[in-house]
Amino acid sequence: MSTGAFPITRTQAPKAKPADDSLAFGKVLTDHMFLMNYDEGRGWHSPRIEPYGPLSLDPATSVLHYGQAIFDGLKAFRGEDGRIRLFRADRHAERLNRSARIMSMPEMPVDLVRQSFDALVGVDHDWVPRKAGTSLYLRPTVIATDVMLGVHPAHSYLYFLILSPVGSYYKEGVKPVRILASDRHVRAVKGGTGEAKTAANYAQSLSGQQDAAAQGYTQVLYLDAVERKWLDEVGTMNIMVRIGDEVITPPLAGTILDGVTRNSTIQLMRDWGLKVTERPISIEEVMAAGEAGTLKEMWGTGTAAVVSPVGTLGYKGRDVLINGGETGELTRRLYDAVVGIQYGRTNDPHGWTS
Ligand code: COI
Repeated sequence: MSTGAFPITRTQAPKAKPADDSLAFGKVLTDHMFLMNYDEGRGWHSPRIEPYGPLSLDPATSVLHYGQAIFDGLKAFRGEDGRIRLFRADRHAERLNRSARIMSMPEMPVDLVRQSFDALVGVDHDWVPRKAGTSLYLRPTVIATDVMLGVHPAHSYLYFLILSPVGSYYKEGVKPVRILASDRHVRAVKGGTGEAKTAANYAQSLSGQQDAAAQGYTQVLYLDAVERKWLDEVGTMNIMVRIGDEVITPPLAGTILDGVTRNSTIQLMRDWGLKVTERPISIEEVMAAGEAGTLKEMWGTGTAAVVSPVGTLGYKGRDVLINGGETGELTRRLYDAVVGIQYGRTNDPHGWTS
């Protein structure tokens, strides 16, 4: 991994690295960060790598008030061959730009974002953990940095990239979770910010999550905001349902994130000759399939957890148990296939790793 041509100020106080066994999600940050500024008229400038540390922000900085904040999340894996691979880095960089457009923020040259990934992972390569199932999570972020209280798109921004060695997202690993289809909380509306990876989407998801937890569920399955009928997303993940031999997942129609794992798993299933349909699917259809025994599997997809099987689906006081509460065969196959490619254990027919 090349560290590129960016100026680097190395830390004088490298941190002790945690044992791979002890890694949770996002609790430990590495020694360095990548920074770059944007000013109207000048564009993106001053890319650089510095020791990891706090940012100093004026209390009137616009991101703190009006939330122009976008991010993405991707991972670097250390393969058994010792090579470090990023998974679908270009697609993540492109998605950062899509989020930027939705949030009236300046786009970034995809090549430059890509180079920032390579350069920082190159500098902190010793932080890529070795144990099976671990990886280095990359969190590219852009915030508005105008110091002003007027409500309009900012004229200046900061891009920063930070890295965190991670274990599995859920401490239980790939283990079926209980999810609650909520008739109280919604996530996004068409014409809003549902397609963007923006801070506010995550802030407003917290109360739904708390509500679900109070009722004994791990996550919320969001329904559409208009009819409260159609599946949207589950927690921070895309949702997929297997009814009989067909896999159904909500379409990219303006309210859900264009998940990289969603895209990758759809591609893999189509490679395997399976029928995958992107169409609106109602909660009643899923519950009815659950009660009729044709709901074979259900899972969420996301970068952090890869796939997360749903063992129990609750809705309006009814619970359906899916696949006896166990991880289904297709869910497991998808997990193994994605992870196999990520660690360079299996061949990578679509050139997703680099
Ligand atoms: C994912 O990668 O699945 C997520 O979006 C979760 C992340 C916000 C921690």
